[in-house]
Amino acid sequence: MKILGIETTCDETAAAVVTLGDEERGRILSNEVLSQIAEHAAYGGVVPEIAARAHVEVLDRLIARALQRAGTTLPEIDGIAVAAGPGLIGGVLIGLVTAKTLALVARKPLLAVNHLEAHALTPRLTDGLAFPYLLLLASGGHTQLVAVKGVGDYVRLGTTIDDAIGEAFDKVAKLLGLGYPGGPEVERQAQNGNPERFALPRPMLGRRQADFSLSGLKTALRIEAERLEPLASQDVADLCASFQAAVVDVVVDRVRVALRAFAGVAGHPTALVAAGGVAANGAIRRALAAQAGEVGLSFVAPPLPLCGDNGAMIAWAGLERLRLGLVDDLTVPARARWPFAEAAPAA
Ligand code: KG4
Ligand code: ZN
Repeated sequence: MKILGIETTCDETAAAVVTLGDEERGRILSNEVLSQIAEHAAYGGVVPEIAARAHVEVLDRLIARALQRAGTTLPEIDGIAVAAGPGLIGGVLIGLVTAKTLALVARKPLLAVNHLEAHALTPRLTDGLAFPYLLLLASGGHTQLVAVKGVGDYVRLGTTIDDAIGEAFDKVAKLLGLGYPGGPEVERQAQNGNPERFALPRPMLGRRQADFSLSGLKTALRIEAERLEPLASQDVADLCASFQAAVVDVVVDRVRVALRAFAGVAGHPTALVAAGGVAANGAIRRALAAQAGEVGLSFVAPPLPLCGDNGAMIAWAGLERLRLGLVDDLTVPARARWPFAEAAPAA
């Protein structure tokens, strides 16, 4: 079974071919990603109109290249998977219309994948991980703790009530005059900084619900930064280190609460998983690995190229759906908003 995956929901244009490998893992035959970072950098964030145009300019060639690098052709493909949302609607439409056209012309099943679900299923692609597992899904637009019980069976144990973690990293980077996207820049700066220099708040620490709040932390950092103006390079490094340390403490505390809630909705987890762009952060990965170890769980996070947006995760989610007969027809809509997990029943 070979699946073509197409991703255009944000600022990455991506196409990949994935097949079923050994031990319930996937095997990536090709994984082409074209980042638009350069096009958006001058604006300090993703400009939806620029993103949509950039997708339309490269997507057909990128798909051709993904098929070629995988040593296959469209007639040999068993299904066409596409991220149908959530995301910037212009980009989503371009990916979806392209996938529908290919599915129609080549008479292949269409698999409309939720982008967040694709992040959530990535540890099954990379590690063949069995259900159920506890997932921290953290990207630029989303921060959720989810009990992943099966394909299409997700219970949300916590979410952010304001900023997403990646968004907070991006805003802090902007505030400190660092580049976009901010996460990798803040992490790099933090490596040379003192995480104890600024006593930043740890919002939500100790709360019984596994929710996040990050805007107060960001504001506290802004106040410290304004107090120090003009910022020396060591100030920037120390601010980044202090910010990242606060985020790590919050993440570990929220995961602790979610692990407790997990038992009530899904039993015993096979692992603690981190996915989404923020899962690339080394400090967060190390802290979660240590935390998982303490409670006798393994920790799984995708290799760095599969943390950010990519086509392989879309293809894999499509493969999982096709195996279960979850095929879509050509009327399936593009969705800017598309929650993928159900809220947990009130405790
Ligand atoms: O999943 P993703 O590639 O795209 C979305 O669907 O949003 O996530 C991008 C987000 C951005 O906010 C970026 O700053 C953040 O992930 N990110 C990081 C790191 N690398 C990327 N945040 C913290 N540390 C990193 N190393
Ligand atoms: Zn994403």
